[in-house]
Amino acid sequence: MSAKSNKEKVNVLILGSGGREHAIGWKLKESKRCGKLFFAPGNGGTDALGENVPINPDRVDTKTVDDIDYFCRNNAIGLVVIGPEDPLAQGLADRLANDDRKIFGPIASAARIEADKAYAKQVMKAASIPTADSRVFKDYFVAESYVKSRETPVVVKAAGLAKGKGVIVCDNTAQALDALALCMKNKSFGDAGDTVIVEERLTGQEVSILALVDGRNIYVLDPSQDHKQAGEGDTGPNTGGMGAYCPTPLIDEKMMNTIQSEVLVPAVDAMRREGIEYKGVLYAGLMLTAGGPKVLEFNCRFGDPETQPLMMRLKGDLLEIMLATADGTLDEVDLAWDKRCCCCVVMASGGYPGKYQNDKLIKGIAAAEEDKDVKVFHAGTKKTKDGVVTAGGRVLNVCAMGADLKEAQAKANAACAKIQFEGAWYRSDIGYRVMK
Ligand code: AMP
Ligand code: GLY
Repeated sequence: MSAKSNKEKVNVLILGSGGREHAIGWKLKESKRCGKLFFAPGNGGTDALGENVPINPDRVDTKTVDDIDYFCRNNAIGLVVIGPEDPLAQGLADRLANDDRKIFGPIASAARIEADKAYAKQVMKAASIPTADSRVFKDYFVAESYVKSRETPVVVKAAGLAKGKGVIVCDNTAQALDALALCMKNKSFGDAGDTVIVEERLTGQEVSILALVDGRNIYVLDPSQDHKQAGEGDTGPNTGGMGAYCPTPLIDEKMMNTIQSEVLVPAVDAMRREGIEYKGVLYAGLMLTAGGPKVLEFNCRFGDPETQPLMMRLKGDLLEIMLATADGTLDEVDLAWDKRCCCCVVMASGGYPGKYQNDKLIKGIAAAEEDKDVKVFHAGTKKTKDGVVTAGGRVLNVCAMGADLKEAQAKANAACAKIQFEGAWYRSDIGYRVMK
């Protein structure tokens, strides 16, 4: 079976194990054309939608590629969706592509926009995309004297992929010097910190703008806002994301058009001028500064947890949308949004983002989902003979739809209150920055 003939069912393999992948699978499953659905490796919730396959795509070595390729051939996979950045940056999309299957996710040269922050800055400069002023350093002592010469606060960033931990927002010179040492001397982020970006520290609210790009066409998805800090009111250490809501009223249509024409289109065009065709999701993390929106980072994939509310609100056939993105025919598919708001609250393990324990039995998911506006996506979970247990820091993504953000947040929090596992915690203020 191939994805080429229009009306045939398409078997899908989703790579990844987070709430993002569970949400994508849940939406794909709604498609009339969705055939068999597989997750590699998936989690304790994804096997209710399809089958979990014991392949881990994080390290793209020859064996992993061969295993995935063999699995795809044996199961007539017509679409492979690559969720996380690591396999994209390592060229998994390049290596899996062939005539019988479509790949959702950019090739390595395009994924570099996330995997190499120095390259991303270069693209932004070449395309005059608004971003923080920055300098790139490969030598510790040169970086050190630059930091000492700065009078305003800076942010120090490891240039490579560092599991979301390589960005250090500094209040003063001493912190910035510590951050440089962490990256370049102590090698805390491995090779990812060999090159460092030092940039001006911006202030403002952050928004996530995700767009589908098919090589030619760009379709910007509704704007959302993530909550990276662990504590209520954006306090405490950074996490992978404690919740998100969509749409955010911080971006009106006019600003969305500005972001499309001044950020997304120029980025895709700049890469095209280098001979790089961008296909997949292009995600711009923006700060809304007094001087207008500025790019903090580009990602080459769907955001987590932003994807969960996006999937809850998406109207349209995600399978057709993903195939069209791979085919360069995005202009031919229908895509619309539920007018309501979705709030996603992340339930985490006790101790996260520090040390935490796994294997805590989870109860109450079915009770939480009794409200038809609530959907619980799994992230760090696994199935055992006793039931579903915790298997990660961010455990569940509790999503609720509401007429407005206030209602969506209240429903999501009420659903979280019905779910129990030892040590469970969550932020009950997701969306507070825009709520009266
Ligand atoms: P990044 O992975 O580059 O998005 O950075 C992670 C987080 O660090 C962002 O979500 C921001 O909260 C913060 N950050 C990154 N760059 C800057 C900057 N130039 N000014 C202020 N905060 C920043
Ligand atoms: N939610 C932030 C990210 O996916 O990078």
